[in-house]
Amino acid sequence: MKHFLQETDFSHDEVLEIFSKAFQFKENRQKRPSSELAGESWGMLFYKNSTRTRVSFEVGIRELGGHPVTLNQENTQIGRGESIEDTIKVLSRFLDGLILRTHGHEIIQEFARHSNIPIVNALSDFLHPCQIFADCMTILEKTNESCNPFSGLRGVKLAFLGDTSCNMANSWILAGSIMGMDISLGGPKEFKPSDEIIHFCQKNHLEQRWSFTNDARDAVKNADVVYTDVWVSMGCEKESEERLAQMNPFRVDQSILSHAKKNALFMHCMPAHPSEEVSQEVLNSPQAILFDQAENRLHIQKAILAKLANK
Ligand code: CP
Repeated sequence: MKHFLQETDFSHDEVLEIFSKAFQFKENRQKRPSSELAGESWGMLFYKNSTRTRVSFEVGIRELGGHPVTLNQENTQIGRGESIEDTIKVLSRFLDGLILRTHGHEIIQEFARHSNIPIVNALSDFLHPCQIFADCMTILEKTNESCNPFSGLRGVKLAFLGDTSCNMANSWILAGSIMGMDISLGGPKEFKPSDEIIHFCQKNHLEQRWSFTNDARDAVKNADVVYTDVWVSMGCEKESEERLAQMNPFRVDQSILSHAKKNALFMHCMPAHPSEEVSQEVLNSPQAILFDQAENRLHIQKAILAKLANK
């Protein structure tokens, strides 16, 4: 029994298998449903809002022949204080796997520690591994014929602008090390990569393939991909005004994008906030591939679930 809590949880061969399967699922979508989760019930427990993750997992479970059970904090006894240990021990008696979106990464780790079923991280404050795998798949399909992320993404320069201490930046730091990409982080000094991700990389003996600058143009220079995320992450709403002011120089507009390679891809995990982290002009440009990223959540997550299924 295996969990997917962070990008490092799958071996090299498992990652290859997942990416290969995801491309197959995409190509053969008309053949759904398949039977990888036949007879299985998978829970989806969300402590936070979601559109893409919730719907793509629910549809994906159905397309694999399984049954999704949607839960949230408020309509379960978690909302009234039942412990994580008791909750997951009970859910393990009913379900075949649990997809979990929550706040602190330690909450997901505690679920996993007491679980007899696979746990999938559908976003924590620390990491968003399903999004990163989908994004790697999207870059691969836009840039080469390969479905091998290790050979296809090696040497790709991805510039991430804005809050470089957020979960997406952390996940790109990990993906850079795993896939051999060069991750160039550009943001205010107050939002530089956290000690937590630096310690995580050291503990896991990951090669450092990232750099940080507080100059947006330097960060995107010669980049193959320019990426950003919301400036006010879920849970940071009280800091809105301060964050918007500090990150203003890191908005991805045509002027910033022009410092990247010609025809560089623009990516965003969505939801996007036009005129905040990205201009409407960039969002409308042919370089923007947000909706392909969103679609690929479905295909890669199906491959992840198929890999974790209790068969
Ligand atoms: N990108 C992402 O995780 O979207 P949702 O918050 O809508 O799930």
